[in-house]
Amino acid sequence: MFHKERVEISEKFDPRKKNILYQGDCLKLLKGIPDKSLQLIVTSPPYNIGKEYERKLKLNQYIEQQAAVIKECVRALSSNGSICWQVGNYVDNGSIIPLDAILYPIFVDLGLKMRNRIVWHFEHGLHCSKRFSGRYETVNWFTKSSDYVFNLDPIRIPQKYPGKKYFKGPNAGKYSCNPLGKNPGDVWIIPNVKSNHVEKTIHPCQFPVELIERLILSMSNEGDWIFDPFLGTGTTIVAALRHNRRGVGAEVERKYIDIAIDRIEKELQGVLKTRPMNRPVYDPVKAGNSLTVAPWTYTNIPEQPLLIKERKRKYSTL
Ligand SMILES: C[S@@+](CC[C@H](N)C(=O)[O-])C[C@H]1O[C@@H](n2cnc3c(N)ncnc32)[C@H](O)[C@@H]1O
Repeated sequence: MFHKERVEISEKFDPRKKNILYQGDCLKLLKGIPDKSLQLIVTSPPYNIGKEYERKLKLNQYIEQQAAVIKECVRALSSNGSICWQVGNYVDNGSIIPLDAILYPIFVDLGLKMRNRIVWHFEHGLHCSKRFSGRYETVNWFTKSSDYVFNLDPIRIPQKYPGKKYFKGPNAGKYSCNPLGKNPGDVWIIPNVKSNHVEKTIHPCQFPVELIERLILSMSNEGDWIFDPFLGTGTTIVAALRHNRRGVGAEVERKYIDIAIDRIEKELQGVLKTRPMNRPVYDPVKAGNSLTVAPWTYTNIPEQPLLIKERKRKYSTL
């Protein structure tokens, strides 16, 4: 639908365009976006943990800064629209502060209703030695009203027991599940973008495209505007264009804007490599990887010769 559209940096929002990349502070871009014009706002803001693209603030300053952006987002959100704020933890001197918990009151005070707190589980990350290693973050989904877009069919996943039938009642003998698949639930197992991931760029915290595709397909319709105030490498616009939506985003760092332009252009040419939606997570045991068995658990260690005569008993090496 939107192929052959050029990608360029814009100074302001223009509803006639199909994709808009703004280099600068998201609040400045937001000021020029008309009320109720965005269908879905999906983002991962800075977590205030001192990444290369952020200045670490006092927690109350960080909350104030986030509140100002969220307030403008709510103004620009359509009446049946959604906001998905994807966050992890802020770490203060070894102590964990879950950002979803501290940001939740901002959304509720602005009249939004939470629909899901989606747990995004992944296997890779820092290995902690004084607490359990963090292996999930959350996508916090809010709507502006009770009349909101939610398309379940495009995001259904395969049933666990597709052959299951009703065993009694008027439908006895008929298949009990939806042939289009089941609701994916609110725990999503999707690999994060680490060094071996096909989508990896120099950005330290990219969204996997498949995570955003699922949100866009379920919470918007073709032609709708999808906005990411903290765009990074352009993942949200890539996912929006892939599904015939319009994408707009702001990013302060020029080097990430350049990556976003490159990725969006590749997407428009149909050559951007991404991990496909719904591909099962790699299982090294099923894949027959030889490194999944610890050498010290091998069972074919030769028996030690008996030093003294004793009744022959079988010992297990496990
Ligand atoms: C967690 S990253 C988002 C990465 C993105 N989800 C992706 O897939 O690449 C947050 C981004 O917000 C940018 N940023 C920080 N403050 C900003 C602001 N006020 N306006 C726009 N972008 C900002 C940072 O440079 C960083 O790239």
